[in-house]
Amino acid sequence: MSAEDEKRLAGEAAAGRVENGMTVGLGTGSTAAWFVKALAARLGPGFAVKGVPTSEATAALARDLGIPLLTLDDARRIDLTVDGADEIGPGLSLIKGGGAALLREKLVWEASDRCLVIADAAKRVETLGKFPLPIEVVAFGHKQTANRITDVLAEHDIGMPPRLRLKDGQPVVTDGGNLIYDAACGRIESPAALAEGLKSLTGVVEHGLFLDLADEGILGVGAAVQWLAP
Ligand code: A5P
Repeated sequence: MSAEDEKRLAGEAAAGRVENGMTVGLGTGSTAAWFVKALAARLGPGFAVKGVPTSEATAALARDLGIPLLTLDDARRIDLTVDGADEIGPGLSLIKGGGAALLREKLVWEASDRCLVIADAAKRVETLGKFPLPIEVVAFGHKQTANRITDVLAEHDIGMPPRLRLKDGQPVVTDGGNLIYDAACGRIESPAALAEGLKSLTGVVEHGLFLDLADEGILGVGAAVQWLAP
């Protein structure tokens, strides 16, 4: 089985957790896309849901598949959000944002009664940090902000400065009009303290550490799925 098969299995298993009438947070990325497709395949007489997308890309996919959408502001409550991750560490601590959607993802996650993370087996790690940590910053003065991020990283024994994320030589701009810096941390020994330090910086909009947010996880492992608890 390939990683893609594992993502599909996790996405399909998660779709089975959705109940008729739910308002569902729709994550972003290749694994979440499998979930969105499997959820759409369940729509029909006796099964209706509303989706709250975490990115323009997911909104477009869901619309194409016929999932009725709500904005985060219009959704009175979100019953369940299902989303992928770049790393799943101890206690279902996560790094997210590889797809640059971390801000909207975190807003939707935090507005949800339950959050379910889905991933292929390779995403499970003992210590967070091998995947570069995405940090969303406002464009105004972003190099100054990056310098201050470097100082915070140094306080956590992380010596590498963050790198501006580029695509085709141009800065990646998020759905919110911000930029992304990626911090090659190696090992994040104290995720909560690092999260607090980054969040305290003016200019940092959000970071990709999702701590104490996931209620459960589904990992595709070969041809099977494994359920994860915090
Ligand atoms: C999007 O910004 C991310 O948080 C994704 O959820 C994460 O990058 C996982 O993506 P894949 O499912 O494509 O690996």
